[in-house]
Amino acid sequence: VLDLFSYPAHYSGDLDCVIIPHGVIMDRTERLARNIMDDLGDHDIVVLCVLKGGYQFCADLVDRIKALSRNSNHTIPMRVHFIRLKSYLNDQSTEDLHIVGAEDLSFLAGKNVLIVEAIVGTGKTMKTLLKHVEAFRPKMIKVAGLLVKRVPHNSACLPDYVGFEIPNRFVVGYALDYNEYFRDLNHICVISESGKTKYKV
Ligand code: HPA
Ligand code: MG
Repeated sequence: VLDLFSYPAHYSGDLDCVIIPHGVIMDRTERLARNIMDDLGDHDIVVLCVLKGGYQFCADLVDRIKALSRNSNHTIPMRVHFIRLKSYLNDQSTEDLHIVGAEDLSFLAGKNVLIVEAIVGTGKTMKTLLKHVEAFRPKMIKVAGLLVKRVPHNSACLPDYVGFEIPNRFVVGYALDYNEYFRDLNHICVISESGKTKYKV
């Protein structure tokens, strides 16, 4: 099925399959934007984009929200703020989680906060982040996750808005990386064994 899609030639041999084509991501994102506006669209929104993997989903989602806001009779102000979480080396989660850019989030007080993440695995990261954000007393906090992996959710913490449920495999593309590679791939794909070896650190 890889042959049915176009993708950068420098990744030939590095991918097993496409699991979510770019166009499908875009369609789903439009629907998520509508659901989000139904819930949060009554008050100032602060989008908290979780970098790096979340940048593409966040950009496309914010675009769709802006389009909806433009076409409705009351527009709402929206800010976008970026934070960085890092816990992965190769395809393995490491124990220590770093939150960068989240030291002073006092501007979240009284706002509708939308946390935008590319992928949710066990939900442990999300739980840590939620606890951190809650301390700044927003009016409401919602989480949008493009992908949720089918893993035993030990912390039972799922996003309010889920793009797709996917098998528990390491995926790349649409800003998701493997050691910083594959962000320049539009589709969400499963990396091949030879791809893993090629870009291992
Ligand atoms: N791909 C890329 N980054 C990730 C993944 C994944 O499957 N899971 C957690 N971070
Ligand atoms: Mg990564």
